[in-house]
Amino acid sequence: MNILSIFDTEDFIFDLLIRAEELKKGRVCRDLSKKTLGLVFEKASTRTRASFEVAMTQLGGHSLYLNPRDTQIGRGESIKDTALTLSRYLDGVAIRAISHKTIAEFAGHATIPVINALTDLEHPCQALADLLTIKEKKGGFNVKLAYVGDGNNVCNSLIGGAALAGMEIAVATPPGYEPNREILNKAKDISSSTVTVTNDPYEAVASAEVVYTDVWVSMGQEKSEAQRIKDFKDYQINSGLLDMTSNALVMHCLPAKRGMEITDEVLDGPNSIVFDQAENRLHLQKALIEKVFR
Ligand code: CP
Ligand code: NVA
Repeated sequence: MNILSIFDTEDFIFDLLIRAEELKKGRVCRDLSKKTLGLVFEKASTRTRASFEVAMTQLGGHSLYLNPRDTQIGRGESIKDTALTLSRYLDGVAIRAISHKTIAEFAGHATIPVINALTDLEHPCQALADLLTIKEKKGGFNVKLAYVGDGNNVCNSLIGGAALAGMEIAVATPPGYEPNREILNKAKDISSSTVTVTNDPYEAVASAEVVYTDVWVSMGQEKSEAQRIKDFKDYQINSGLLDMTSNALVMHCLPAKRGMEITDEVLDGPNSIVFDQAENRLHLQKALIEKVFR
């Protein structure tokens, strides 16, 4: 079973969240001794890498970090040959890829489970941990989530996750930075979904109980940083925007660019749940590994 997209969890997303809650409470986990999870990361990571590695340790298994720069991938070995070879050693692989096409091609050839650890299109592990966090803090999904900022990978998976969970989501982006059209359509096709997209951050946060943001400049977009800073200047999560809500909780997948998409005051403030959210990456990924490993 591969988890390339948040939509791949459609059939078991609620069970996964319950299992993650159990594991967080310290319930006995599946014994994955002698199992190895490969971590192929084409981009930097703190949370995703660390939480996957610790997850494998806590499950009794092992993880193997494979930096493309130190492997033959960096010298041009094909994705197909890499997938076929690594499938002979590993029991599963989590891939952080620059392009979503890379992970799709890898999964097309691999004979082991492939987990998306972030691509340019999606970040499903993040969205699942975010759902776990909202469930924990709000007791369920009968809430409105507002996402303000770039309609990026994190936003795309969050839209899918909200739709699957039956949670209302309102997204506000500057014109031209809206979320992926195909993902939006897929989410809207889910009967339980309530997804709206606007260019007005005030409209999105109105009556929201949770407000979420991510960086304006994702990894690999550094060249357009100056333009993005101009385009996103009215989309900052600050106390003025939060005042438009009744005490909404604040989420951020991290890493944050303090002073850009979110102020220090908000990130460090009493409504911020960002480090509980970061912690939940571990619990959720343990449940996910249990689920997908044979
Ligand atoms: N949120 C997240 O995926 O963080 P990292 O880039 O540090 O893994
Ligand atoms: N949108 C960000 C998320 C980092 C976890 C990026 O892709 O860089």
